Amino acid sequence: MSVYSTILTQSEFVDKDSLSYPFEERGLQFGDGIYEVIRIYKGEYYLLTEHVDRLYRSAEAIKIKIPYNKEKMTELLHQLMEKNNMKNDGKVYMQITRGSAPRDHIFPHEVTPNIYAYLQDLPRNEKILENGVKTISQRDVRWENCYIKSLNLLPNVLAKQTAKENNCYEAILHRDGVVTECSSSNIYLVKDGKVYTHPATNNILHGCVRMAVERFLKAENIPLIEEAFHIEDIQHADEMFLSSSTSEVLPVIQLDNVVVGNGEPGKITRILQRAYEQDAKITDKLITNL
Ligand code: PDD
Repeated sequence: MSVYSTILTQSEFVDKDSLSYPFEERGLQFGDGIYEVIRIYKGEYYLLTEHVDRLYRSAEAIKIKIPYNKEKMTELLHQLMEKNNMKNDGKVYMQITRGSAPRDHIFPHEVTPNIYAYLQDLPRNEKILENGVKTISQRDVRWENCYIKSLNLLPNVLAKQTAKENNCYEAILHRDGVVTECSSSNIYLVKDGKVYTHPATNNILHGCVRMAVERFLKAENIPLIEEAFHIEDIQHADEMFLSSSTSEVLPVIQLDNVVVGNGEPGKITRILQRAYEQDAKITDKLITNL
């Protein structure tokens, strides 16, 4: 996966090899910051407004004041793309920390947030989009403010690693059996033509692709029920899928030892995958077998 050489820091563009973090950086020492991952198709951001809005919501929630407005941030992200002459499918990772200061839990008095953004290539994963993925269940041991896209991802990292070690793509997280989301995506269950997903409370990240899925379902007249489902409900599901900026709309065909539906990507999942491709203006379409 290639990393592009020009990186945005604060509001300047520098070469990635010239970049060094100070040791006393609150993102490094406390995870005191927030981030975003935005998908790129052929050099164009997808759902950019939604991601920038969420970035500012997350910043406000942890009392970081981003030193410029959303319009300027959007402009800088476009400049980042231009300066790297990015034309591929990829993603931008951006992170804003409270800043650099002597280590102390209390917020430093006068500190400027550190802002970083860089581009990576990310080709679409045709195989899994076509065939679906297996998942594993894990307890959701995170905090109560999962709507903030915080840098503190240790529980997510551990859950995803466990999934990987069990030949699974994702970990489906639950609190006392109530399914919240996955380690880095939102999760949905389809039963009798209706789509169920956890309501957008503090216990999940309000995914930008989740918002798009809501839109697609409305356009297709498929009911979306924002009601949490139980891990045991999955035994009776017709279909399941997950969504995120890196995974798109992805069929889920197994949880632990339970095969979902007939073990193949479902009809509603396929409708949503097609809607996603249209919405993201993807020209090399994968989803043909509807
Ligand atoms: N993850 N839930 C969690 C916990 C996530 O980390 C993500 C995204 C999502 C989906 O959000 P969106 O649709 O806005 O991408 C849900 C990103 C991709 C990441 O951490 O790499």
